[in-house]
Amino acid sequence: MGPLNRRAFLQLSSSVLVSGAVNAAIPAVSPLQKAIPSSGELIPVIGMGSWITFNVGNSVTQRKARSQVLDEFFNAGGRVIDSSPMYGSAEDVLGYCLHELDRQQDAFATTKVWTSSTQQGRVQFEDSKRLWQLPRFSVYLVHNLNNWRGHLPYLQELKQSGQIKYLGLSTSHGRRHSDVEDILNTQLIDFVQLTYNAADREVEQRLLPLAQEKGVAVMVNRPFQTGRLINRVKRELFPEWGAAMGCDNWPELLLKFVISHPAVNCAIPATSQVEHMRENMGANYGRLLADYERKRIADAIRDL
Ligand SMILES: NC(=O)c1ccc[n+]([C@@H]2O[C@H](COP(=O)([O-])OP(=O)(O)OC[C@H]3O[C@@H](n4cnc5c(N)ncnc54)[C@H](OP(=O)(O)O)[C@@H]3O)[C@@H](O)[C@H]2O)c1
Repeated sequence: MGPLNRRAFLQLSSSVLVSGAVNAAIPAVSPLQKAIPSSGELIPVIGMGSWITFNVGNSVTQRKARSQVLDEFFNAGGRVIDSSPMYGSAEDVLGYCLHELDRQQDAFATTKVWTSSTQQGRVQFEDSKRLWQLPRFSVYLVHNLNNWRGHLPYLQELKQSGQIKYLGLSTSHGRRHSDVEDILNTQLIDFVQLTYNAADREVEQRLLPLAQEKGVAVMVNRPFQTGRLINRVKRELFPEWGAAMGCDNWPELLLKFVISHPAVNCAIPATSQVEHMRENMGANYGRLLADYERKRIADAIRDL
């Protein structure tokens, strides 16, 4: 049954039955996808990060273990992979794993420029291509707004020459939100990456509505608060109301909270474990949640 969990399968079966369109073969279920506003291209709602989790250096054992994590990701319909030169060996390890799995074509590869030097930024782009073993990137971001004024013209050049498809910038954990707001108001960018989860909700006030208004895609980092949130909730019994929302476990529920926000295109949870990847990718299927359901999750997190 591939990436389908039992509940998703039952939902599919019942929707097929309700529509009366029952064929001998049940169609493969597609992942939930959202359109990038600047192009209309669809991307799956659950991607993956690589900070720490893929920074495993040269150990062949560790690299092969990460290949298995990535294999699980692709098999569950994942495509968006996020990294940065800031993440140690992560870009190199991703390049190794993508090559080993022969999945270069399937990756919606996202990386970043992370240097205060405009000139060094050009060198870093070439380094990233070599490390990932890719000729181009889907998304290229200015990491943490570092020298964004210096880097943006080069990113525009890269986009025009087809070496990247989309450009933008990233921030995290509530940092420099007013600068991000200024950039959204004054610059033409395709993507913004920011922190959002059921506990850290500051971006709901200004940045998410503004991104939506400006037609900028939102990629969400730290959906589990770097793991702190998930460690808190996993001590609690999974609630009946969570199952009623079509989720099987806490990670899936927390990710559904994030991706169901109308301004959000995808979340990029990071994991080093196949079993965790399987849980997370549950959120790539089923349905998005209504506002009242998202509120219920946020209230439960607040009351923990
Ligand atoms: N400014 C920026 O550009 C910026 C800043 C921050 C993050 N990011 C990007 O966003 C990605 C995600 O953020 P993050 O890595 O900081 O934090 P995160 O995704 O919120 O949390 C990652 C942690 O959650 C744990 N985890 C994942 N799935 C789990 C599951 N199903 N059950 C239990 N634990 C689980 C992982 O441990 P296990 O390995 O044990 O699963 C890991 O320790 C980063 O990797 C990076 O690519 C970008």
